[in-house]
Amino acid sequence: MIKKYINKLYETNNTTDEELLYILDNLDVDSKEYLVEKSHATRMRTYGNKVYMRGLIEFTNYCVKNCEYCGIRVSNKKADRYRLTIEDIIDCADIGDRLGYKTYVLQGGEDPFFTDEIMVEIITKIKDKYPNNAITLSLGERSYESYEKMFKAGADRYLLRHETATKELYEKFHPGASFENRRECLWNLKKIGFQIGPGFMVGLPGQTNKDLVNDLRFVKDLEPQMCGIGPFIPHKDTNLANEIGGSVDKTTTMLALIRLMNPDVLLPSTTALGSIDTQGREKGIKAGGNVVMPNLSPTSVREKYSLYDGKICTGDEAAECRLCIENRIKGAGFEVEITRGDNIAWQTKKVIKNDVKRTFTLEGDY
Ligand code: 5AD
Ligand code: SF4
Ligand code: FES
Repeated sequence: MIKKYINKLYETNNTTDEELLYILDNLDVDSKEYLVEKSHATRMRTYGNKVYMRGLIEFTNYCVKNCEYCGIRVSNKKADRYRLTIEDIIDCADIGDRLGYKTYVLQGGEDPFFTDEIMVEIITKIKDKYPNNAITLSLGERSYESYEKMFKAGADRYLLRHETATKELYEKFHPGASFENRRECLWNLKKIGFQIGPGFMVGLPGQTNKDLVNDLRFVKDLEPQMCGIGPFIPHKDTNLANEIGGSVDKTTTMLALIRLMNPDVLLPSTTALGSIDTQGREKGIKAGGNVVMPNLSPTSVREKYSLYDGKICTGDEAAECRLCIENRIKGAGFEVEITRGDNIAWQTKKVIKNDVKRTFTLEGDY
């Protein structure tokens, strides 16, 4: 039965919620192997064996939000806060370009210091210098107008994980935050024209397979260009310090299911996955992941961007991420791809407007 459902997913990229739940409830070693095989075949058909590189710039760890699981939540007074200057950020972009990163991911907590004006200045400066490089933002919830200003300044993509598509679970982990507003933000970003990346954590305390089916369904309905999935990992200075984190096995299962349901999606094998298993990112790539996001932040601040315990790429080895990740990708039997790496369905839609600074050509630049 389970292989029949997996075959249906492979052939039609969809199935019912009941069948998804059946797969999650009944997956064993043999059917997991089959699932991963089908997911791999799907990615080979869409993106081949290429793995896309993004340079991650963690530019502020100030955050007004209080997500229960997160080490930089506002109420964690032990977090050592920092903000990069605009010059620091441009330096990261320079280093990144030289290392072959043609996408920058500007990620931070929800930090009111970075007003729309400042963000527009940063985006404009990077785009003036590197018009062919893509800018991905990951700055949390902002107004429609704010998103629009940043898009018009030249930002291309936006990562905003929905975290969990189950309202009760969302409210349990996000005191004072609105489940509806977060989802609304994703629809707004999509409407404005960003390539969007929702995503969720695997193994949140109390999360069931039914909740994970909700995540699969939400992502399918949203039709995003990207999707970020990682295991929940406890952070010592949060109330969830003693909880059990998500597993590699469950996370790779979710990666495979997302790949099967959304063949074109750009799917990172996340740092969180690499942090709970030395081979975590390789396993994620083999299960359908086709993006890695090595750290480009100055090594002096990397340890401070501490969302969870045991994060890799923060110590002495940090400067070597570029080489390290390339070796890992090759070692797993895949190929590093250093172009911008836009979503393939997105490229063929040709929705890219010329009135903003997106000067790459559709033919040659991928
Ligand atoms: N474990 C795993 N992922 C986490 N994130 C935040 N805190 C944790 C944690 N403790 C994830 C959230 C957020 C992304 C930037 O990092 O999903 O959206
Ligand atoms: Fe802030 Fe994001 Fe951490 Fe939530 S997960 S506290 S929004 S940095
Ligand atoms: Fe950062 Fe390996 S990718 S040290």
